[in-house]
Amino acid sequence: MSIVQRLLLPLLLGPAAALAQQAVTYTEIAPILQARCVLCHSGASAPLGLRLDSLEGLRAGSQRGPVALAGKPQDSELLLRLSGARQPRMPMTGPPWLSAAEMSLFERWIADGLPAGADPAATAPAPPAQTVDGPVTWTQVAPILARRCSKCHATQGLMGPPPEGLRLTSHAEALASGERARVIPGAPEASELLRRIRGQARPRMPYDGPPWLDEAEIALIAAWIEQGARDAEGRPAATPAGARLRLHGTLGAGWTLDGLPLRVGTGTRIDKSPRPGDYVQVRGRWSGQDVEVERLRRR
Ligand code: HEC
Ligand code: HEC
Repeated sequence: MSIVQRLLLPLLLGPAAALAQQAVTYTEIAPILQARCVLCHSGASAPLGLRLDSLEGLRAGSQRGPVALAGKPQDSELLLRLSGARQPRMPMTGPPWLSAAEMSLFERWIADGLPAGADPAATAPAPPAQTVDGPVTWTQVAPILARRCSKCHATQGLMGPPPEGLRLTSHAEALASGERARVIPGAPEASELLRRIRGQARPRMPYDGPPWLDEAEIALIAAWIEQGARDAEGRPAATPAGARLRLHGTLGAGWTLDGLPLRVGTGTRIDKSPRPGDYVQVRGRWSGQDVEVERLRRR
């Protein structure tokens, strides 16, 4: 290639063509995989056995077969999932999806034949820092929900639209109280999300369990709610006073639901004569302190 052609080519074909002259290596895509994929795609529970935390895992593919076919990006499941040509689109926690620039890195890496590049072990990311001190924040809770819940509770999950309209891929979604609140900051017992992972409310979550969350994970989520359901920056969430609630659990003596006090008054509609020990559904509003029950029904 003449020096003139070399200088002109980028101008003629645009910046992408100019970059395409150097091969993309695993070293460049590993940080994207680490940030957006390995939360789910690692370890024994990796979906479809697809591990994206090492070059070997990526090359090995899933139990359905290879996901990256050297030289054939357009036929590679990996790229089809990233672009949304095949559903469910990846990352399962999206949107946001990968940017066009990130997707084109994957495309070029596959087209270039999946080269390793500089010692990939050297770029193996450090495990995420564990915060042990201070209040529990969204940063500690998010990976659990991403790994175990967001495959369904996402914009387009395994069951299609999110069950009950509940998305769990961001702090704002988990705390949303538009239709009804599933997390009441400061009040774990009034939080249907916690009731579901404990199995006090049925069907128990995750819906595809067992395995359920382990005790440490449940305790962490309970502490997160108790301490104000803090966001990633550590700010407690606002209490949604007046928010609608729909809770399930076991009725106790003196109008309680697994220990949570219920305010039952003349305005409460009670169906099917529930008695202590019965499994019930409670609909009402969060007063800021307790549940003002509108309807109590044996299930
Ligand atoms: C929240 C969890 C989660 C995250 C994050 C996630 N995935 Fe997935 N992924 C899944 C699940 C669950 C499936 C299985 C879906 C199905 O049945 O097709 C899957 C399937 C796939 C498949 C299909 C494998 C095959 O053989 O059919 C590919 C490829 C894939 N993911 C790539 C990625 C990439 C690349 C990222 C990051 C950009 C990513 N995933 C992020 C949960 C996740
Ligand atoms: C395999 C799909 C799937 C997974 C995984 C899953 N869920 Fe669900 N979730 C559902 C379905 C379906 C329902 C509706 C069940 C019903 O009431 O019949 C539901 C309902 C819920 C509800 C009740 C919503 C409401 O408005 O009352 C909560 C809370 C919930 N899930 C939380 C979770 C949490 C937390 C996880 C992870 C630990 C999780 N789910 C994992 C499918 C799933």
